[in-house]
Amino acid sequence: MEPPTNPGRFSGPVHAVSVCSEAAPAIARALSEESGWQIKRVSLKARNPNAMPDTVERRVLEDFDARRAVGESPETLAYSAEVDGEYRFMKAQPTEGLCLACHGSEVAPDVEAALAKYYPNDQARGYQLGDIRGAFSLRYPVK
Ligand code: HEC
Repeated sequence: MEPPTNPGRFSGPVHAVSVCSEAAPAIARALSEESGWQIKRVSLKARNPNAMPDTVERRVLEDFDARRAVGESPETLAYSAEVDGEYRFMKAQPTEGLCLACHGSEVAPDVEAALAKYYPNDQARGYQLGDIRGAFSLRYPVK
């Protein structure tokens, strides 16, 4: 999920975990239905099982990691191509300081408990500042 723009409205990361687990997928679904684009987030270390990458997404995420390792800025990493009758677009999502509360190596006990409850198979931990947390992935059928 994105960090709240107005943190005062939220009761902190624990509440955000529960909102995110229900609200984020619903928002993505609604956007997809309205626009005809399929929109999701993917990661090599997924928290939500739906965020597991397909073959194209996995290859691109690995390429993003490799390009970052040789000095490219994670902010600008993107991909677009036509693959099997679909237009595919991906944009890397770098790990910022805020993200570490829920995706870093050390997670507060209350956040830990919330993650264990909603994401028993969570792999999205251990990230450091500047790591590529995942990517937005969009697809649209080519006419
Ligand atoms: C309050 C805790 C929290 C914070 C802070 C947070 N996330 Fe997440 N993140 C989550 C949860 C919970 C999910 C699973 C959402 C879902 O079920 O779709 C998630 C999922 C994701 C995903 C989708 C892939 C996956 O693993 O399921 C990406 C990408 C992501 N977060 C990136 C970020 C980035 C980048 C930041 C900082 C800008 C960030 N997150 C900050 C809790 C958080």
